[in-house]
Amino acid sequence: MYIMEGLSKNNQGMLTLGGISLKDIAKKYGTPAYVMDEDTIVKNACVYRDATKKYYDGESLILYASKAFSCKYIYKLVSELGLGTDVVSGGELYTALKAGMPAEKIYFHGNNKTPDEIKLAVDNNVGCFVVDNITELNRINDYAKSVNKTVDIAFRIKPGVEAHTHEFIMTGQIDSKFGVALETGEAEEAYILASKMSNINIVGVHCHIGSQIFDFQPFESAVETMLSFVVLLKEKHNIIVSQLNLGGGYGIKYTSQDAHVPYEMFISKISDKINKVCEENNLSKPMLLMEPGRSIVGAAGLTLYTVGNVKNIPNVRTYVSIDGGMSDNPRYILYNAEYEAKLVSNPDGQADETVTIAGKCCESGDIIIKDAKMPKISEGDLLAVLSTGAYNYSMSSNYNRIPRPPVVFVSGGKDKVVIERESYDDILKNDKD
Ligand SMILES: Cc1ncc(COP(=O)(O)O)c(C=O)c1O
Repeated sequence: MYIMEGLSKNNQGMLTLGGISLKDIAKKYGTPAYVMDEDTIVKNACVYRDATKKYYDGESLILYASKAFSCKYIYKLVSELGLGTDVVSGGELYTALKAGMPAEKIYFHGNNKTPDEIKLAVDNNVGCFVVDNITELNRINDYAKSVNKTVDIAFRIKPGVEAHTHEFIMTGQIDSKFGVALETGEAEEAYILASKMSNINIVGVHCHIGSQIFDFQPFESAVETMLSFVVLLKEKHNIIVSQLNLGGGYGIKYTSQDAHVPYEMFISKISDKINKVCEENNLSKPMLLMEPGRSIVGAAGLTLYTVGNVKNIPNVRTYVSIDGGMSDNPRYILYNAEYEAKLVSNPDGQADETVTIAGKCCESGDIIIKDAKMPKISEGDLLAVLSTGAYNYSMSSNYNRIPRPPVVFVSGGKDKVVIERESYDDILKNDKD
């Protein structure tokens, strides 16, 4: 009945997540607070892990996409489930290593890896570099040579596949800052060059066509395009690629309007397609990698806020101001992302008021939901904005010197803090007198 699986209502009529009253969470930890249902995260991670084993005959590895939500606890959780991770910065890499994620299961992404980041990754023996461009390839080869190591790589390829999603999260087309293009011959050149490098070992091809995608078809097209390229590399250049990494991008329910697509279906369709193309081309089955982020943590989390005031501008708009905003959720201001909110004390109340839920930052665009249909809201009410588990904490900032909220995990009626609330002193900690 609710868009998040872990949500329910207790016998006092209060909204609960993972069996715990959100009113109690707010009382215990204050607001704003991110609250995440650990059971949903585990379930989603297991769906990917188990469905690849069930539907795909070859080897497979699921890499949790750190960018969706990164902290020590999440790396521990997913690595215990057998997943690896994809990281895009020294900070994500460092956190994953500190959390005990096995280095060989870390894939290092990013379109501008710095020399320091390359050093950190090579020194710690990460599993694979997903190389973005030739400058970076040279840098990696030079550093690997200087420390007498050989580094496994895949290139990030722009397969030219259109995915129907917001232009800022659409990445497979030629006009993208990420990767090397197939259609111009850039990718082929890159592999030829890499194959001649002393300290580079080509293992894979990678693409990520975009995010919040609900259709199977773009993924099937991506499989076809990428495997045709693998065949070309083998037949024309005798370059053997053993890993096919299809990135992430599987959609989640942000509002009741969003479709629900079981991730198993994606995996079953993708597996069928790989099997078919491999048979047609007499190609051995590559190891299949996927990098879901949003679809593992997004619909597991919500953000709890307290309403500070309700401002009615007659015949114009009613603003409901909350004690957070774009500093903890910049997705509306970035790409008009849509969300749904529930009143914690009256989650199923008649939604006959139209209000705009606004943050407390000094920006007119600091909105969380425009024109939300809600029951009557008053000062002091607790609001839960749903499906904020991905790209909220990880994109949060200290704009206006607002401390970041804590992240509280709930599971089976128990709660624990996995990231503490920032204090004012945390905000000052790098300032010089
Ligand atoms: C290379 C790569 N892999 C995986 C992801 C994760 O995508 P999602 O969170 O939509 O699954 C992204 C998102 O930007 C990405 O760029």
